[in-house]
Amino acid sequence: MRKLLVTGGAGFIGCNFVHHWVQKNPGDRVVVLDALTYAGNAASLDSLRAKASFRFVHGDICDTDLVTNLLDGEGIDTLVHFAAESHVDRSILGPDAFIRTNIIGTHSLLTAARKTWLRDGAARPHRFHHVSTDEVYGSLGPEDPAFSETTAYAPNSPYSASKAASDHLVRSYHHTYGLEVTTSNCSNNYGPFHFPEKLIPLVIVNLLDGRAVPVYGDGKNIRDWLHVSDHCAAIEAILQRGKPGEVYNVGGRAESTNIDLVRMLCAIADAEFTRDAALRERFPKSPAARAESCAKLITYVRDRPGHDRRYAIDCSKIQAQLGFVAETKLEEGLLETFRWFVSNEAWWRGIMDGSYQRWIDAQYSRTPSSNLQSEPNS
Ligand code: NAD
Ligand code: DAU
Repeated sequence: MRKLLVTGGAGFIGCNFVHHWVQKNPGDRVVVLDALTYAGNAASLDSLRAKASFRFVHGDICDTDLVTNLLDGEGIDTLVHFAAESHVDRSILGPDAFIRTNIIGTHSLLTAARKTWLRDGAARPHRFHHVSTDEVYGSLGPEDPAFSETTAYAPNSPYSASKAASDHLVRSYHHTYGLEVTTSNCSNNYGPFHFPEKLIPLVIVNLLDGRAVPVYGDGKNIRDWLHVSDHCAAIEAILQRGKPGEVYNVGGRAESTNIDLVRMLCAIADAEFTRDAALRERFPKSPAARAESCAKLITYVRDRPGHDRRYAIDCSKIQAQLGFVAETKLEEGLLETFRWFVSNEAWWRGIMDGSYQRWIDAQYSRTPSSNLQSEPNS
């Protein structure tokens, strides 16, 4: 039986991981530590509150004493670290929070883990798993080989630079102090509980409400899309069979340009509205409610500064060594995600509050309206 501390467990991937773990390992103790920033939503964990084996702690990973007390007091043997500032666009507008949480916060966890687990030179059984990103490797050209675990780091945004720094700190605690760490660097996740500032959930809620769907630049940037349930299964495989000190890249084998992805979501919305009269009543502002194509909402806007052109993941190591392969096909995962947002309207309406609106206004009003267009800049 394991005792887990999951940081950032009220965020998108963290809450999916907690649900996944509790379902697969019902006897384990799971403690979530989350600061409930704008991206954290305790409601995502509501269904677990009644379980005696589950505990939610509202707190900051930078509070080393709090973390040390939790590791010690709860007898934690496994720390899974998701907590982070995670949105690239926010890191461009305000990097400070990214330095604090992603670098100083990760170091605070490492300090507490070392103090608790390596006390007096006698190591207690433990594992520190650090969740990181493919963005630390930088940007690929169209013909470049995919990122492998040995690709040199070349982060291009304050977000990816802060994640790169945290990866190095985690690595150093293994080599210097013998802390048993593993790290995963994964591609773009999507699925339930995704905060609607990121591309896929933003597109879905905008299609439902008939708002413009903003596509940066020429829409030809490429991402590899990984369903969050596959990511959770990969982390489970790493915790169970991964080797301390190792890094594992996790990808979905599903590269797509942004514009193709957005068009797929528009086609899904069109088909779902055609199939289901109730959708037409619930979301009358969507063009699909009037039998018009949602593609008319696609709006090219000014590009993200320093926008990485392409990410691609070589996930042969985790497949060969741990037997993990992502199972979800992109088209099926997108349809399932669209339906999740339709079925969980209260969840996303609840988080699209004043601070969300202020973010959307600040981010998208930077684009002069004369730049809003249906075709990209040449
Ligand atoms: P998210 O923004 O949805 O959630 C982050 C969570 O961390 C929130 O619940 C927030 O309240 C919490 N948090 C933030 N600062 C904190 C602090 N100081 N103390 C405690 N909790 C704090 O992020 P996500 O998309 O779920 O990403 C989770 C992790 O996975 C991050 O480390 C991110 O870098 C990494 N990652 C994400 C993706 C992706 O596509 N979303 C891909 C690769 C890697
Ligand atoms: O690759 C892993 C990373 O994926 C994670 O480390 C990050 O935490 C996560 O946020 C995600 O980063 P991206 O920047 O790739 O995700 P985002 O959803 O913000 O954007 C996906 C692509 O879509 C990217 O090329 C930018 C573009 N985009 C995004 C938004 C929000 C648009 O064209 N329009 C938009 O409005």
